[in-house]
Amino acid sequence: MSEHGTDAARRWTLRGAHTEYVVTVPAHGRWLELVAWGPHGVGDGPSPVAYDGPVPFLTAGDAAPIEYATDADRPFTGADLVVETMTGHRRVAFGFTEAAHDPAAGTLAVTFADPVTGLRAVLRYAVPAGADVVRRWVELTNTGNEPLQLARVGTGGFCVPTPHGALLSHQWGQWAQEFQLEHVDLKHGAFTIGSSQGVPGHLHVPWLAVRDGAEPDGSVWGVAVAWTGSWEITAERDTGGLTRIRAGRRLPDGPLELPAGGTLTLPEVAGAYSTDGLDGLARVWHRYQRMLAGDRLVPRPVLYNSWEATYFAVDAKSQLELARIAADLGVETFVVDDGWFVGRNDDTAGLGDWTPDPAGFPDGFEAFIAEVRGLGLRFGLWVEPECVNPRSRLYAEHPDWVYQVDGRPLTPIRNQYLLDLGRPEVADFVHSTLDGLLRRYDIAYLKWDFNRPRTEPGRAGADGPLDLDGAHVTALHRIYDQLRRDHPDVLIESCAGGGARTDLAMAGRADIFWPSDNTAPMDRLAIQHGFLHANAPHLLSSWVTDAPGIFDPRPRSLAFRFVLAMAGVLGIGADIRHWTPQQRAEAAGWISRYKEIREVVTHGEVHLIGGPEQARCAVQYTSPDGRRVVVLAWHTGRSDGPGLLPSRPVRLPLRGLAPEARYRQGDQSYSGSHLGAVGLPVQWTPIHDADLIVLDRE
Ligand code: DGJ
Repeated sequence: MSEHGTDAARRWTLRGAHTEYVVTVPAHGRWLELVAWGPHGVGDGPSPVAYDGPVPFLTAGDAAPIEYATDADRPFTGADLVVETMTGHRRVAFGFTEAAHDPAAGTLAVTFADPVTGLRAVLRYAVPAGADVVRRWVELTNTGNEPLQLARVGTGGFCVPTPHGALLSHQWGQWAQEFQLEHVDLKHGAFTIGSSQGVPGHLHVPWLAVRDGAEPDGSVWGVAVAWTGSWEITAERDTGGLTRIRAGRRLPDGPLELPAGGTLTLPEVAGAYSTDGLDGLARVWHRYQRMLAGDRLVPRPVLYNSWEATYFAVDAKSQLELARIAADLGVETFVVDDGWFVGRNDDTAGLGDWTPDPAGFPDGFEAFIAEVRGLGLRFGLWVEPECVNPRSRLYAEHPDWVYQVDGRPLTPIRNQYLLDLGRPEVADFVHSTLDGLLRRYDIAYLKWDFNRPRTEPGRAGADGPLDLDGAHVTALHRIYDQLRRDHPDVLIESCAGGGARTDLAMAGRADIFWPSDNTAPMDRLAIQHGFLHANAPHLLSSWVTDAPGIFDPRPRSLAFRFVLAMAGVLGIGADIRHWTPQQRAEAAGWISRYKEIREVVTHGEVHLIGGPEQARCAVQYTSPDGRRVVVLAWHTGRSDGPGLLPSRPVRLPLRGLAPEARYRQGDQSYSGSHLGAVGLPVQWTPIHDADLIVLDRE
């Protein structure tokens, strides 16, 4: 066996539903490396990421497809882990010690140790049964006598063969313009996305897809980070055609300290693979997120949210007026947004004081909720429990509870500060506030908002390094877990000034995400198109509102807005008090149609057809038994052209249908092969700019 040769006893295969992930410890034992990642059988042939031959001016490690690289392994081309001793020395060099593989459970743990520093790393892998996702995380233990400084703590590298250049897909954004899908042709060098905000952030989604430049519709590898704090993903393509994707935590506050005897578990990163391009990759992520949802994967209720109708002017009268109309339309859950608690007349005061405002609810909050419930609606409430306005009782009593650097001014954002969840008493406060609200009031839905990133890297009176990001995220997850356990019937929506808190860890904890504050139709179409590449429809909260476009002002019909909001979980956020009887009747019709299709939207296989910038733009949902196909389609061009002269329909090529089967839409019957090759016709006119089509197998 050569130095880089493999030893069958040190080679392990993790099998997913359609994929396998094969790793080995080479004879030298210094690292674990990838043999192959792709469809079943990919590990049988020659490795697509093998690196035979000399590596002039580099070390072998710089070229190797290493799974978890220290700066001793890859000194020149980027390591996942960089550690310093107290004397400032770097270079942790591992040696393999043991492995535990359970093929039936789909798990693998490979342990390495560094005799000089005493650092031990357990590289853990799990492929959930039925998924094509590899979950990875690392446990670092300092078995030495001195503390260690962790300057970089990535969770791992995913190695992808890109001999013809790397085609990267990612999602950038900003407030009101999240999830913008973009493609980057990376010939050489590195591409980095991330967040230093202590929250996944608006700027980038912790999600990346990589394809080989010559094969854009074939194999695609995806990486996502399950961490609700600061994170980073770097894809670096070397001259040898290997793209290595490093993923994990970013440390904007500086190195972490790992004390002697201490253990640090690095957050999970996940890799996904599909042979069917980006659209296929989306389905792999959807399937996995549906598994994360477990028995909570049921159609979400149609909701009404009062934010855009009343903003901070919340009182029982206005809310009940809205609730009565909402109930008539067929809405199932009524959510009162920001503005219901004492002192909250605008965004300058009140956060932290979670008591209903007696001026707004003179008969009491219980009585108000009872009236909402009396309309046949469930009740939901907005909260932002991690934040505090300086103008609040909470801040007056506990100014030391917010992140701060002693002697430095605080940085307000949206007139608020951030509570330091790493302090046990603060985490207790947040948990008991929410738990108390859920116990006291008849609440079925919680919209948990978060409207500012963390700026201050410190804690009042603290000396020495602190892992603020780690402590905040850990406490946040713990509180979510406790609330889910103790209030299993309450749905929790994760919102952060729009879509700044959507990562895989939250996908396993929240029931639904609010992707953006931008509800304008054409803008929303682009946002949802990106969102559905990384997230399953049950996570997509979407409201029909009156909002005009911010970025794309082309007007669209009420039908367009409804069909768009049906792509995930339908909600209404418009001021329905001003809707005409005709609009209300139309809305009631759409809501009732949504209730007929939402099972398929929640569980169906998704195919994204075209996109917001393309002549055709639709989403196809095929029920798990293949018997029902729901197609939502939108006209993305100018609305003043089609239909004025006799014109040909747009054709939507449907995917994944049985070729000989027949599918009926009203009086029309199509074969599966016709729908695939010729496509489903949709005729746009200036007044018909969206369609909901249901095809049933005959
Ligand atoms: C930001 C959210 O994204 C909005 O939907 C709304 O809840 C406001 N916060 C309330 O302050």
